[in-house]
This record gives sequence, C-alpha cells and structure tokens, in this order.
Amino acid sequence: MVIQRPKGTQDIIPGTIKRWHFLETQIRKICSEFGYQEIRTPIFEATELFQRGVGETTDIVNKEMYTFLDKGQRSITLRPEGTASVCRAYVENKFYAQPQPVKLYYLGPMFRYENTQAGRYRQFHQFGAEVLGAQDPLVDAEVIHLIWEFYRRIGLKGLEVHLNSVGCPVCRTEQRSQLQYYLQERKSDLCLDCQDRFEKNPMRILDCKNKGCQALTVDVPTTLDTLCEECKEHFAKVQQALRDCGIEYRINPKMVRGLDYYQRTAFEVMAEGIGAQSAICGGGRYDGLVEEIGGPSTPGIGFAMGIERILAVLDKQKVAIDNDQENKVLIAALGAQARQEGFKILSELRQDGVSALMDLMGRGLKSQMKYADREGVRYVLILGDEELAKDAIIVRDMRLGDQSEISRGAIKKYLLKNMKNSKYLL
Ligand code: HAM
Repeated sequence: MVIQRPKGTQDIIPGTIKRWHFLETQIRKICSEFGYQEIRTPIFEATELFQRGVGETTDIVNKEMYTFLDKGQRSITLRPEGTASVCRAYVENKFYAQPQPVKLYYLGPMFRYENTQAGRYRQFHQFGAEVLGAQDPLVDAEVIHLIWEFYRRIGLKGLEVHLNSVGCPVCRTEQRSQLQYYLQERKSDLCLDCQDRFEKNPMRILDCKNKGCQALTVDVPTTLDTLCEECKEHFAKVQQALRDCGIEYRINPKMVRGLDYYQRTAFEVMAEGIGAQSAICGGGRYDGLVEEIGGPSTPGIGFAMGIERILAVLDKQKVAIDNDQENKVLIAALGAQARQEGFKILSELRQDGVSALMDLMGRGLKSQMKYADREGVRYVLILGDEELAKDAIIVRDMRLGDQSEISRGAIKKYLLKNMKNSKYLL
C-alpha cells in the first residue's frame, strides 16, 4: 500500500513553490523596510509555554495541540502559533536589555490538530511579526499598516480589516460581570463550550460560531461597552492613526480572537471568496504576555497571517505573479561537438549569475523548444554544426518570437543589453 501524507498536510511541489518564493521575497523585503529583524525559534517547545501563553481556556490549547512526551519524559508541543515562542525568546535572550522596541518577524510551519477543511490545515504556515516594548497606539497602527501595505504590494483586493478593543484586566472584570449578568438566565441554552466559557472566560462567548449562541448574544454588552477610560483613549488614537495612513477598517465589537493573551487592540483581516476560512490575518496587543511567561512587564503587539490562505486569495483573484523568469536562458546544442561547446557557454553564463539551462537528454530542436516553453525561458541560444563553423550562435527571443545570429564572443554583451534586469551580469 502506498503511504500517504498525514491528513491536513500538503506537499509544496515545484509547480507551486514559485508562489511561495514570491511571497517570501515580498515578506523579507517589507519587513526589512519597516525595520523588523527575522527570528527563528524552535518548531517544538515545552508544552507549558503554550498553556501559560496562549491560555488554558482556548480551543488551541484544549483541543488542538500536538503534544507528546519525549524520551526524557518532558511534555513537548509542536508550536501551534509563534507569539508565545517569540516572547519566550525575548526573555531568554534578554532582548529587554536592548533599546526598545524590539521588532521581530518569523515565517514557518505551525501545527494544530483541527477538523480539516478548505483553508484549514493541521500543518500550515504563518508569516508573523511582533513588536515588543512599545505601548504607543501609533505602534498598533504601524503594525496594521505593514499588513495593509503588504497586501497592496502583492496585489490583493477587496479585503476588510475588522477592528476591536478587548480592554485590559481592569475592563475585563466589568465585562465579565456584565456578560454573566446578561446571560445568566439563558446559560443553559448556550452550547457546551460556551457554558464552560461562561465561568472561565465569558468574553469568548461573543464570537462563538454556533448559531444558537449568536442569537442569544445579539444584544449583550460588548467589549467596547465596558472599556475603561485609558483603553477608550488608546482605541481612539489607534483609529485616528489608521485614518491618517488611509487604512479602511470596520469596528467589530464582537471580534474577541481565539487566544487568551490579547489586551486592548484586536484585529483580523477578512478576504472574500475563499470559503468559510476567510480570516487571512489576525493579531492584536498582548501587554501581559511577556510577564505571564516569566519576563519583565513588557507591552507587545503583533499579527500572523496564513500563507496558504493568502495563496488561495491570490488564486481566486487571478493575481499574476512575477516569477522573474524574464531572464532565463536555454542552450539548445545539437550534435556532440556543439554540446561540448554549449556546456562551456552554460558554465560561463552561470558564473556570471545568469539563470541558464541546457538540455542534457540529447533531444531534437523541437522538443528543446517545448522544454524552453515549459520552463518559462526567455532566450534560447541555438548552437549546431553550422554555427560552430562560423563561431556564431543563434539567439531566439521566445517572447518576441524573433531570432538573430550573433558571434560567440558577443553573447554576454547581447544579454546585458536585452535582459530586463541585467545587474547579475555586471
Ligand atoms: P491566529 O488567528 O490563530 O493568530 O492565526 C493567524 C492566522 O493564521 C489566521 O488568520 C489564518 O490566516 C492562519 N491560520 C490559523 N490556523 C490555520 C489553519 N489551521 N490552517 C490554515 N491557516 C491557519 C495567531 O496565531 C496569533 N499568534 C497572531 C498574533 C501574533 N497575535 C499577536 N501576534
């Protein structure tokens, strides 16, 4: 029997990897422009990190973690998200002793034992960024601006930013008693999860996906109704800054996010047309998290976006991706001697940094042309006995469909002149 990949995982195969590379390049570029440095934390961590960080009452910790005992009987968990790990690394590496804020980004696989469906996987990939050590509401806006600008650059359209403030521990006490007061008599009509949340974390009843619970919470007080003065002021400043940088957003007072560490600003970005899993990004402020995992009191804010979901929107919106194949060269050598000479040209071009291929299967010209097409090659250099005798080569421009003969020594000059981005040859 053929062994198949585990449920909820995917092979990222050569046909699709170009789209991943495209996103990864854009991610690194924008992060460096916005002043973020990359961090790579372990794929697995002590289970306690997520229990304390993400929260014991969340679905992620309760139902979705890949947890096992290692051979030393330590409880280990494959990371379900990146924020707790980044905060742990911030503390462990004493980043708090450096000039603040510390701005970090990450890119990599996360693991959640979810019920799989389109857009929801058990191994998926996130691009995330975290700013630690800054409290200013302008930082909240700056983080959302990065997300907005990233989507604009990669060509996504029709996205909606949902914004809310979930308050601080002071507001949380008031929220809790108001919600419990309003829902007390209807408690037994809530779904089982929400009955549990009623005691442990009633705020999370607000964004339960169960239709029955949604009907019961239509008129209940939201997190915005119970904000303290400081949180209200913070939220107003975030909104002002978002308007100042031209970001459209929609206040969604029932969006409270599925992780326990959020305080004040919380947001999600929704995309149309990719089915039920329409959240392509989520994030918010988590001012108590670093302290919760044993570090000094440190404000923090960040986001993470699902790469698979972004790719689904790119596909849906038929966004063309520049794969930088514009400069690719194929050497089509015909005959033993031409192949020997062609191989020399191939290695010279490669030493100059040109993306160059050569048919090594001894195929005829027609099938080499097909090969060039398949590989997205722009220039085919044709070399047969006739060209060899003249110390020349034929250059065929596959996009324009024309060809010309140039001398063997002029290849580099020709490519320098014609390639879109000839910096590689300099
Ligand atoms: P999250 O909302 O759990 O937040 O995940 C962020 C994004 O990851 C989602 O909006 C979605 O695009 C993607 N995602 C989540 N689960 C799956 C899945 N099973 N399959 C495919 N994509 C998925 C966090 O993880 C927080 N750490 C975000 C954050 C960073 N908050 C502050 N800093």
